[in-house]
Amino acid sequence: MATKIESVTFRPGKWPVVRILDQRKIPQSIEYLECAEPGQVMHAIRTLAVRGAPAIGVAAAYGIAQAMALSAARPAGDFNRILAEIADAFAATRPTAVNLFWAIARMRACGAATEGQPVAERVQSLQTEALRIHEDDRLCCQAIGQHGAALLPQRGGILTHCNTGALATGGEGTALGVIRAARALGKDLHVWVDETRPLLQGARLTAWECLQDGIPATLICDNMAAHVMKLGRVQAAIVGADRIAANGDSANKIGTYSVAIACARHGIPFYVAAPTSTVDLNCAKGDDIPIEERAAEEVTTPQGVALAPEGMPVFNPAFDVAPADLIAGIITEVGVARPPFTADLQRFVESARLRLA
Ligand code: MRU
Repeated sequence: MATKIESVTFRPGKWPVVRILDQRKIPQSIEYLECAEPGQVMHAIRTLAVRGAPAIGVAAAYGIAQAMALSAARPAGDFNRILAEIADAFAATRPTAVNLFWAIARMRACGAATEGQPVAERVQSLQTEALRIHEDDRLCCQAIGQHGAALLPQRGGILTHCNTGALATGGEGTALGVIRAARALGKDLHVWVDETRPLLQGARLTAWECLQDGIPATLICDNMAAHVMKLGRVQAAIVGADRIAANGDSANKIGTYSVAIACARHGIPFYVAAPTSTVDLNCAKGDDIPIEERAAEEVTTPQGVALAPEGMPVFNPAFDVAPADLIAGIITEVGVARPPFTADLQRFVESARLRLA
């Protein structure tokens, strides 16, 4: 089986090779990593060659299916142990995006459901499940776009942070997917793209996607967002999420919290767009969400250029949490959750679970 679902981030390869677009190279070049074994998929996740909460989940699912395909010749009695070990290894790649753990849980459940079957069939089922995870995410993006498009104004400026497009998902994107869907309805929108320090997912990736698609967009440094709002050029802000707590507090790329605060100051609606696989009902509130801290070099040495004096201490949290009271709506594939969020999110997660069962 090849990875048969065509998307920008994941291209069909000669199975069990997993082909993943190397986002570290964009916009300079378009190169696909040919991951021949799961260690390479894990490395791609850790180093952000593949990034964005939904895309990380899809990558892990393919990596687990790949690992089990590669170990198909091992004794049947080893199957469960190997699956558990590889699932644990993928779970240790990045801590914040809950879609990773959601996809891994689906792969574990699939393995458990095939207990007692011949190894070849179990391997096949895991491959099929990975493809379903990818396809489900593509469909989620479509539905999020449809639900969210109605919320954006007929014309005006939309500010976004980080990259939430095709590069970050298995489909057209979450927040950027909403913008795409709104434009498809004929809305006349201009995107304000936050550069997204320190790794510049906005400047490198969202800017690239907007240019590729002919979406009118302007790049700004993160610290210009409040000023652009004050100038009256932003009518709504929309971002993605890596983990949404049961009360609606939403973790997303560092800098998102500042955007939410600036929106509140200027009376601009601030929306979060994410599939229900990003909602973690086990986290009661934002403070319970683990926040990844990354290497100092990402701050001191962007793109390999040393900017700060050597030895300078650095704090580099990769995410922050926009509190629920600053969020006008959380756009999911099931519908738009409204404040105070708890009941809607619970209902949406349950409805998505029933759909997948
Ligand atoms: O560290 P990254 O680049 O993986 O962080 C990505 C984000 O914060 C995205 O905004 C989020 O995952 C939503 S992607 C649809």
